[in-house]
Amino acid sequence: MNIRVLTLFPEMFQGPLNMSIIKRAQEKKMLDIQYIDIREFTDNKHKKVDDYPYGGGAGMVMTAQPIIDCYQHVANQLQEGDKPRVIYCSPKGRVFDQKLAQELSKEKHLIFICGHYEGIDQRAIDEVVTDEVSIGDYVLTGGELPAAVMIDAVARLIPGVLGQAESYQEESFYCGLLEYPHYTRPSNFRGLEVPSVLLSGNHKDIDRWRREKSLEITLKRRPDLLEKATLSDEDKQILKYLKK
Ligand code: ADE
Repeated sequence: MNIRVLTLFPEMFQGPLNMSIIKRAQEKKMLDIQYIDIREFTDNKHKKVDDYPYGGGAGMVMTAQPIIDCYQHVANQLQEGDKPRVIYCSPKGRVFDQKLAQELSKEKHLIFICGHYEGIDQRAIDEVVTDEVSIGDYVLTGGELPAAVMIDAVARLIPGVLGQAESYQEESFYCGLLEYPHYTRPSNFRGLEVPSVLLSGNHKDIDRWRREKSLEITLKRRPDLLEKATLSDEDKQILKYLKK
């Protein structure tokens, strides 16, 4: 997968995306991430990239010209027929979730546009953006942290990026439920015992216990997820019992 990030602050990505799993994925050439400084594309002799909003109001707006020219520079490097998803990070966008992460992980080319100040000129959005995406209902100072969050969530779903393909099969959100709790050695930590079923070796019992715990935590913390999750008859029985 090729990811291009159009930003005024390329150095903001050096920490989060240059460590651990995402670093290894780049070293193994499964993932190529490049950061392009929007400011290098401005026509303005003072390298200005923002201006006052028409109609008045607080804050500055990033101008369309350097963003569109920076995008064009990146798009020109693609092969004919390549259709990148162009994601503008914005609190007004569709809210990012695991389903969108899965969808994006199947793309060959992703371009992220990171805005700053009050946002970017609407004409740049209208001209080049395919997806306006928010990472949640709060406002950050720019799109860099949201882009890093989305890149991390998407990159780990690329086959081969995680050590074992199965390690994301059962995790939170995979089946639409929150994940059951995990325990590791020792079985007794300063008097705190691991649930005995996990030591039993009985995989049927372990699976049932984990499913019950998933349902329990989802019911408690995110009952909204239960409406969309695929539930078996046994799940529904367990939920009925838990609700009582
Ligand atoms: N830019 C500022 N806040 C944001 C958010 N919540 N999601 C995506 N981009 C943003």
